[in-house]
Amino acid sequence: THVPVVDVLQGRFAVGETVTVKGWVRTRRDSKAGLSFIAVHDGSCFDPVQVIALNSLENYADIQRLTAGCSVSVTATVKASEGKGQALELDAERVEIVGWVENPDTYPMAAKRHSIEYLREHAHLRPRTNVIGAVTRIRNCLSQAIHRFFHENGYVWISTPIMTASDTEGAGEMFRVSTLDMLNLPMTDKGEVDYSQDFFGKETYLTVSGQLNVETYCAAMSKVYTFGPTFRAENSNTSRHLAEFWMIEPEVAFASLDDVAGLAEDMLKYVCKAVLEERADDMAFFAQRIDKDAINRLEKLVSSDFVHMDYTDAIDILKASGKSFEFPVEWGVDLSSEHERYLAEEHVGGPIVMKNYPKDIKAFYMRINDDEKTVAAMDILAPGIGEIIGGSQREERLDVFDRRLEEMGLSQEDYSWYRDLRRYGTVPHSGFGLGFERLVAYVTGMQNVRDVIPFPRTPGNAQY
Ligand code: 4AD
Ligand code: MG
Repeated sequence: THVPVVDVLQGRFAVGETVTVKGWVRTRRDSKAGLSFIAVHDGSCFDPVQVIALNSLENYADIQRLTAGCSVSVTATVKASEGKGQALELDAERVEIVGWVENPDTYPMAAKRHSIEYLREHAHLRPRTNVIGAVTRIRNCLSQAIHRFFHENGYVWISTPIMTASDTEGAGEMFRVSTLDMLNLPMTDKGEVDYSQDFFGKETYLTVSGQLNVETYCAAMSKVYTFGPTFRAENSNTSRHLAEFWMIEPEVAFASLDDVAGLAEDMLKYVCKAVLEERADDMAFFAQRIDKDAINRLEKLVSSDFVHMDYTDAIDILKASGKSFEFPVEWGVDLSSEHERYLAEEHVGGPIVMKNYPKDIKAFYMRINDDEKTVAAMDILAPGIGEIIGGSQREERLDVFDRRLEEMGLSQEDYSWYRDLRRYGTVPHSGFGLGFERLVAYVTGMQNVRDVIPFPRTPGNAQY
């Protein structure tokens, strides 16, 4: 059996003990003294382990031909390192070459540094790089911490459907799911596509949010959340939009907007603390190579209270800023990412809970405030990226909800099951959605969400 590199580097084995590690060569260099230094990584931690191979090894000639990317199985004794860097290294007894790299000169990951755009175009090989390896471990750490946070706080994880007939956000940005033959579509007498002949007997889509479904479980289980993939056919070619992204959506019964703002703050603090504690190695890399503020930012987030702000006040602040924004500021407009970043980065210098947006720019399910102009909505805006969370208190009053449906030209029939939740034992309830890739980008300082998801889906790109 072999052991993970992390166990060797963290000293789980005594100096002099024999271990086997298996992984891939990151670098290899020869020393004049007749030995070869091989850095072997296996994904278990940021650093590779240094393997020292002496020219007395029977396959030393082959070892000297090892290049980046080759796979190896190394049996070796643990040794205190004489050089700087890692405290422990391995003295090879046997280096078995498992897989060669053909044509090392044309191996796409051969050079030491590639641009992030180049790596994106080699999504099947980029996990081998130290940057994507670090992102991948942080992403894993965050998702485990999110589940742990909710579990420890009594939340029940609900799997909501990926195929659905409802447009939760009402933005019409859905991917259609159909089994109809596109070249021979069945048509109705009215000349419309006859979806009654489709697999589900009606038009269906990939979900944009699990919220409406999870609300049904909230109205029985009290504290619930979803964590799953969501899809948006919005043609936004930006560094913070994906066509397929993961979202975490808690929904809480008997909870106000401020209750879930507090929940969001507690959750973000919990998961950032987990990253600082569990992934110090990767965070040190991000702070050194990607964003020098990466660790400070998390430490500050964990230790300070989030600032709350009203949308109406934010508009005044933006107007008074004297900045010329690409999109003009006026009460009633949605905040652009430029506005969000100004507020979070320059005005506050940390995350903001932005509350009470105009109802006309928000979804149909949000609870109308007493002023009749705004809804009990909140976004959490983070420095560097802008909106990472969108949430609200939900309209639980049937009469008010029906008026809103009518105002927006939506039919009661389409929302009959959602209305039932308001007819049978309705309760005030609130929830939010955290964009997982935006969180990973925020934590690591990576500039583009395409580099924090293994296989990004964006307009014009669904390779792999
Ligand atoms: O603000 P959104 O659209 O809210 C909802 O979907 C609600 N139903 C959530 C809820 O209350 N349960 O999306 C929530 C978050 C955003 O704040 C953003 O972080 C992320 O999802 N998001 C995206 N992330 C990557 N690519 C996209 N195209 C995204 N669209 C939204
Ligand atoms: Mg939003």
